[in-house]
Amino acid sequence: MASSDGKQALEQVDAEVRSCRLCPLWRSRTKAVPGEGAVDAEIMFVGEAPGGDEDRQGRPFVGAAGRVLAEQLKKIGIDRQRVFITNVVKCRPEGNRDPSPAEIEACRDHLLTQIAIINPRVICTLGRFAARTLIDNRISITREHGKPRRISGILYLPIYHPAAALHQARLIDSLESDFRQLRAVLDDAAGTAPAPQTAIDA
Ligand code: URA
Ligand code: SF4
Repeated sequence: MASSDGKQALEQVDAEVRSCRLCPLWRSRTKAVPGEGAVDAEIMFVGEAPGGDEDRQGRPFVGAAGRVLAEQLKKIGIDRQRVFITNVVKCRPEGNRDPSPAEIEACRDHLLTQIAIINPRVICTLGRFAARTLIDNRISITREHGKPRRISGILYLPIYHPAAALHQARLIDSLESDFRQLRAVLDDAAGTAPAPQTAIDA
């Protein structure tokens, strides 16, 4: 899709998300957080759900976890403006509880539409919920983090959630090695033809 059409299509998703009432999370949100970034991004990052800062600002990964993400991106020479960042659910679960299976299911089409529009080479899932939603609903991040998998022409890289490193200091080394793995995957993918536009298997 031409990038101006893509931009318009992403804006359409934004508008749908901001007025969405498909699950009960709309009742408690301050602002929905559709996600942001480049329509021609080669990499998408998919987190779990907005936290308090994100809910107030309507932007993804702008709080403490966002600072960890920014730091890791900087270390591997990736500009935040060049990627697309979003979450599995677009509205904040109260008190930052885990999103429920029903909420994830309700919000899934917003995410799949974003993926279809952007058609990235690499999707980096941050934490368990994104990996289970997009890669394999039984995946163990402890075992599988940093191991890329190709599904329908897109390379998926499951990694730890940046917030995990805030809660467990020992995970920072794993997170850093996951980001180095992302750098390696991108360097490998460079020069290969863009992935064909494909639907993600449900
Ligand atoms: N954690 C997430 O998973 N997503 C955000 O946008 C912020 C924190
Ligand atoms: Fe809609 Fe997703 Fe928000 Fe639920 S979390 S109201 S499905 S945008």
